[in-house]
Amino acid sequence: MSDLAKLEQEAMQAIKGCTDLGSLEKKRVEYLGKRGFVTLLLRSLSTCSPSERRDRGALINAVKRRIGLLINTQKELLEHLSIENQLQSEAVDVSLPGRSVDVGGIHPVTRTLERIQQFFCAVGYSVATGPEIEDEYHNFEALNIPPHHPARAMHDTFYVETETDGMPNVLRTHTSPVQIRTMNKGKPPFKIIAPGRTYRSDSDQTHAPMFHQVEGLHIDKDINMGHLKGCLNYFIKEFFEVDKLKMRFRPSHFPFTEPSAEVDIGYEIKDGKIIIGEGDKWLEILGCGMVHPNVLKNVNVDPSKFQGYAFGIGIDRLGMLKYGINDLRAFFETDYRWLSHFGFDPLDVPSSYRGLSR
Ligand code: DAH
Repeated sequence: MSDLAKLEQEAMQAIKGCTDLGSLEKKRVEYLGKRGFVTLLLRSLSTCSPSERRDRGALINAVKRRIGLLINTQKELLEHLSIENQLQSEAVDVSLPGRSVDVGGIHPVTRTLERIQQFFCAVGYSVATGPEIEDEYHNFEALNIPPHHPARAMHDTFYVETETDGMPNVLRTHTSPVQIRTMNKGKPPFKIIAPGRTYRSDSDQTHAPMFHQVEGLHIDKDINMGHLKGCLNYFIKEFFEVDKLKMRFRPSHFPFTEPSAEVDIGYEIKDGKIIIGEGDKWLEILGCGMVHPNVLKNVNVDPSKFQGYAFGIGIDRLGMLKYGINDLRAFFETDYRWLSHFGFDPLDVPSSYRGLSR
């Protein structure tokens, strides 16, 4: 066998034996590179006679072409294999069960608040806010609760170490101070609700040191108690999604309203479940009244020209009734099992009120 034929055979075997692209490239350089065997053979032709150069040159070039072709074929084969390998190793088993993601839920208090806001905004109220650390003036004085008034003791107030105008600050005991802040900032008419956190030093099955209230205030030229009754009756029916509602206004006392009332709704227990609107039991759900003239004077609203009503609702209490939760403290214990049982799907938007649109 000629040297050339031997070289070709060796090259062909070496190339076919390459199992990866790296070693194949090495072989290409070894045979066809600048200093490769074939290249050197071509160069050595310069010392040959012209006729020998032509004949041998043609032979060497033919070998060069065949080696080149085989390298290309082998390269394609190896590339194809490497893609196959990758597909194998990265294969996804579509029959495996998916990895579950923990989705958070809407807390029942949040959902209750959303429903309350949805109703009042639909009937023309806007939402006002105020600070949770209040001064005694806004929390008590301006609301016609002077120092030493028994109502202050009833509120079991948390005092904080800071002061405003020489008076101690408190964690607001109710949302009523937002009435004062709202009226101080603007001019009548006022039609607002003020939801938020409130604090009292109290803890049992139906009381928590932090709880939620929503305040309502409607002041205009001729707002009367009939409007208050109508508004609350409409709200309670919509909130509990009932057509029949037994509701009573029981005379009461709040320093910031005159007259004042507490509102009870009728209920009964059927098969261990509370049914709102029927039965002969009464449940207190909120306090309300006509805003006291002293309160209006404190915010420079003339009580001979403007009047109106206010109410304060316990949000947590309403949520407990609506969703059948009997211990208020569970709301704030952040027990994951409880939350996933009572929480709401975040994508499930609360149904809008019957006949009401925003
Ligand atoms: N602020 C009262 C409380 O926390 C609730 C309340 C009663 C608010 C009557 C009112 C109202 O606006 O008119 O006990």
